[in-house]
Amino acid sequence: MMRGGIDSVVGMTDQTPALAVEDLRKRYGQGAGAVDALAGLDLAFPVGTFTAVMGPSGSGKSTFLACVAGLDRPTSGRVLLGGVDVTHWDERRRTQMRRDRIGFVFQDYSLVPYLTAAENVALPARLAGRTADPAAVRAALARVGLAEHAEHLPDAMSGGQQQRVALARALYGEPAVLLADEPTGALDTTNAREVLGLLRAAVDDLRQTTVMVTHDPIAAATADSVVFLVDGRMAGRMSKPTPDAVAAQLAHLDQLPAVAR
Ligand SMILES: Nc1ncnc2c1ncn2[C@@H]1O[C@H](COP(=O)(O)OP(=O)(O)OP(=O)(O)O)[C@@H](O)[C@H]1O
Ligand SMILES: [Mg+2]
Repeated sequence: MMRGGIDSVVGMTDQTPALAVEDLRKRYGQGAGAVDALAGLDLAFPVGTFTAVMGPSGSGKSTFLACVAGLDRPTSGRVLLGGVDVTHWDERRRTQMRRDRIGFVFQDYSLVPYLTAAENVALPARLAGRTADPAAVRAALARVGLAEHAEHLPDAMSGGQQQRVALARALYGEPAVLLADEPTGALDTTNAREVLGLLRAAVDDLRQTTVMVTHDPIAAATADSVVFLVDGRMAGRMSKPTPDAVAAQLAHLDQLPAVAR
């Protein structure tokens, strides 16, 4: 099934990246204590691609996601969602954009503890004033292998199961972009592999454009390509990553020349 949304607006084609950033910069603080968390980032994420973002602690990965999601405002540069410049949208439109166009998966699952799995999946739609179709919610949970857990509270589920609920919730709204910040960071190997398999399936089956921050070369190797950040700049890019190649690249990040795109 083709996904709708901005991508299907007249004039937009698959050549229009689902997400792009142009000369993205973010400076925290000022004067001598200023930190350039993003120092001129140019990246494009084509529709239906899966990209891992890696880099040392403090290299700007979370800042990048926050700027893309409109949670943080870049100091300069542009963020384009489906070819539309959203950089200067006001708070109301950003909130709407996050709700309707962007899916999130965080390391800590971020489920609402007093809502069941099904209620958690339906929550973003409810917050948007829509009624979630119970059959669609069940289908979303079935997609992540949790059809039998619809009425369970997060506490009654394992970490891996909770993350699968979070993934079902993120995918339920058919977002233009799925942003994942260390989605397997809190999981054991088996559960991590399962979540990564589901992310991969969303890309392959739904053409879900996905951007995943990770420290784990095995997780990164699930993606189509890896972008390496150092000091808020792109320090390298790898397509068809393997865990060994990613690990080797990470060990020598300081020796990579900064590249533009
Ligand atoms: N709100 C803030 N105020 C000041 N400095 C900040 C703020 N947020 C991030 N920074 C700084 O910006 C830089 C990039 O931080 P960021 O959190 O994006 O890194 P990261 O790559 O996500 O690191 P990690 O792998 O540890 O999560 C760091 O030097 C950090 O200290
Ligand atoms: Mg981070």
